[in-house]
Amino acid sequence: MKKIRKAVFPVAGLGSRFLPATKAQPKEMLPIVDKPLIQYAVEEAVAAGITEMIFITGRNKRAIEDHFDKAYELEAELEAAGKTQLLEYVQKVIPKHITCIYIRQSAPLGLGHAVLCARSVIGDEPFAVILADDFMDVDGDTPAVLKQMTDVFSYEGSSVLAVHDVPRANTKQYGIVSATPYRPDLELVDGIVEKPKPENAPSTLAVVGRYVLSPRIFDFLENLGTGAGGEIQLTDGIAALMKEERVLAYRYAGTRYDCGSKLGYLKATVAMGMKHAETGSEFKAFLSELHEGRGFEE
Ligand code: G1P
Repeated sequence: MKKIRKAVFPVAGLGSRFLPATKAQPKEMLPIVDKPLIQYAVEEAVAAGITEMIFITGRNKRAIEDHFDKAYELEAELEAAGKTQLLEYVQKVIPKHITCIYIRQSAPLGLGHAVLCARSVIGDEPFAVILADDFMDVDGDTPAVLKQMTDVFSYEGSSVLAVHDVPRANTKQYGIVSATPYRPDLELVDGIVEKPKPENAPSTLAVVGRYVLSPRIFDFLENLGTGAGGEIQLTDGIAALMKEERVLAYRYAGTRYDCGSKLGYLKATVAMGMKHAETGSEFKAFLSELHEGRGFEE
C-alpha cells in the first residue's frame, strides 16, 4: 500500500467573508490564539506523516510563503535580544524534513481546479487535501483527524472523505454524500452532490475539508465542466471517481470549527484560548465572569 506523502492546501480563495481583515492578508493567516490557521493545517499533515506540502496559492498570498520560510532578520534580532523561547517558536513553524511547494492558481476556477493544479507534483500516488479554514481539534490522546484518515487509507486502500452529520437546513453549504454503513465510523459512498438544497439532499452527511484521494481523480477533474456555483468542483470529480473506485466516508473523531465563517472562527478562538498553556486558566476565569454578567465592569 502506498504511503500518503503529499498534501495539497488550496489557499487561493479571496476570504471575502472576513473583509476588511483579509484585504491585505490571506484568510489562512488569521490566527487562532497565536498560530495562523494554515500552520495548524500543516501541523495536522505532519502528524499524519506527510512530508511534502503543496500550496495552491493566488494573488496576495505571499505571507503564506514567508510564514513557512526562514526569517533571517527576525531570528537574528530575537537571538541578539536573548529571546530564546520566541526564537524557538519561530524556528519550529515547520520541521526541517518538510518540503513546501507553491503553485499559483491563475484564476479562481474552483476547488476541483485548485486540486488539479497539483497534478504534476503529485504524480501517480494517493494524496491528501486539507482545507485550512476547516479547523479540526481533537481531545487528549486522539490522533489528528488526517492521521485517523491515513490510517483508514492504509487499512482499506481506497479514497477517504471526512464526514459529519449537519442539520438538514445546512446541506447547501457542503458536499453531501449518500452512503451505506460499512464498518464502525465508515460508510461506502454511493453518491455525492455539491451544496444541494435541503429538500434535494440525499442525506445530511456532509463532507468537511479533509480528503485522502486516489490519483485517478485527476483524470476526471481534467475533463470536468463547471458545476455548482459555476466552478470546477472537487465533489464532481469524486462523483466520477466513485463509479470506478471505492470511496469511503469516515466519521472522524474530533471537533470541526468552520473558520470560513465569523462565528466558527470565534468559537475556535474561544475553545483554543481555553486550552492554551499561557492563556487557558485566566481566560476561563474571564469567561465565567462574563457569564455571570460581571464581565463589562471596569
Ligand atoms: C468545500 C467543498 C464542499 C465541502 C466544504 C467543506 O466548499 O466544495 O464539498 O463540503 O468545502 O468545508 P466551500 O466551503 O469551499 O464552499
